[in-house]
Amino acid sequence: MLDLTPERASLDPIETASRDEIAALQLSRMKWSLAHAYENVPHTQAAFDAKGVHPDDLKTLADLSKFPFTTKGDLRDNYPFGMFAVPREKVVRVHGSSGTTGKPTVVGYTAGDIDIWSDLVARSIRASGGRPGDIVHVSYGYGLFTGGLGAHYGAERLGCTVVPISGGMTERQVQLITDFKPQVIMVTPSYMLSILDEFRRQGLDPRESSLRVGIFGAEPWTNSMRSEIEQAFDMHAVDIYGLSEIMGPGVANECVETKDGLHIWEDHFYPEVIDPVTEEVLPDGEIGELVFTTLSKEALPMVRYRTRDLTRLLPGTARTMRRMEKITGRSDDMIILRGVNVFPTQIEEQILKCAGLAPHFQIELSSSGRMDDMTVHVECTMTSASEDARTASGKELAHHIKSVVGVTARINVAEPGNVARSEGKAKRVVDNRNRT
Ligand code: DLL
Repeated sequence: MLDLTPERASLDPIETASRDEIAALQLSRMKWSLAHAYENVPHTQAAFDAKGVHPDDLKTLADLSKFPFTTKGDLRDNYPFGMFAVPREKVVRVHGSSGTTGKPTVVGYTAGDIDIWSDLVARSIRASGGRPGDIVHVSYGYGLFTGGLGAHYGAERLGCTVVPISGGMTERQVQLITDFKPQVIMVTPSYMLSILDEFRRQGLDPRESSLRVGIFGAEPWTNSMRSEIEQAFDMHAVDIYGLSEIMGPGVANECVETKDGLHIWEDHFYPEVIDPVTEEVLPDGEIGELVFTTLSKEALPMVRYRTRDLTRLLPGTARTMRRMEKITGRSDDMIILRGVNVFPTQIEEQILKCAGLAPHFQIELSSSGRMDDMTVHVECTMTSASEDARTASGKELAHHIKSVVGVTARINVAEPGNVARSEGKAKRVVDNRNRT
């Protein structure tokens, strides 16, 4: 693979500033952000008052721990525009959460917010190995979801040529990649696998494609999946993280030269990791729930937003800004099976160890009597579709899951193409448990 390390001179100076400089900027911006939220969002003012804190109480970054958390429930309770800190007329765009039930959560941006978001996605694409002049194929969905438009504005800002294809029409995706020859693709990792299948179905060698970098996010994926995709396409696979409540894609991004976790763009977002039960702030290096405070957002400042994502904070490497380890999963997606905590990413890792299995999978939970059961639906590869080969792969996977994850799973090895495909975020868990 090509060495795509960006020239140091092309980086934003703050990406390599000293920790002291970063901390000083964070403190001054945090003071502004807390005051802005307190003065303009009735919910925030009431929450601060109830806890007996005032923005003036923030003298150091550590003082942030005195302030109340914000949750998705707060956004829902103030639906649609109640958490905005600017008059609605100043909001130039809204996006929404991808939630499937009930009201979506609505987020808003001023022109200034969109400008910073574009800069940060441009920074993320550059960190991933993209360059001005590259063609960027954007297969994240366009719409209320932040993926498509977020990627789009960032790629334009970096000086790239954008192909705004959005998700779906997989045959067309492959045709445009073949015809337009993009260097960069931005897409969920699970949909990239569908694109890979389509390359093979059309008899095309993905390693011969023009793609040099894939910028994958919006859902958890493992380092094993990274190797799978990198080998299949002979390209770099880099992780991008974000959430609509904080901004969208581009809150944190891996650097192509290290691929050792995601550098958080700490000049605009202040991270904390807390124990989800005691709500205490944990020291860097310990795994817990990621919490963000925005430092520059005008329309929707967020104070200590609980993401539900589980990770730990690590010191900077390729940049001075701190890293977050690849996300293990969301606390909402954790399966508790007979007392053992299981994340879909752990199942993904075991599947990728089995040569006869393709990386498409779905986990079904059911209940028999008072016990819960887990079935992993997975596919065999084209070349190992015989009955015997499928049985052997199923046994191999069950063994890995039992010995590494510690749970007994039923395995259903289906023919290629029989596990539900995503065109965006994959639905990894189907819960059919009877909870009455
Ligand atoms: O998924 C924003 C995004 C778009 C990020 C495109 C990256 C690329 P939401 O729909 O609000 O926003 O979902 C946010 O998705 O809290 C995580 O649980 C999950 N997520 C996002 N990126 C990653 C990642 C977008 N790189 C939620 N790894 C977050 C693991 C991720 N999970």
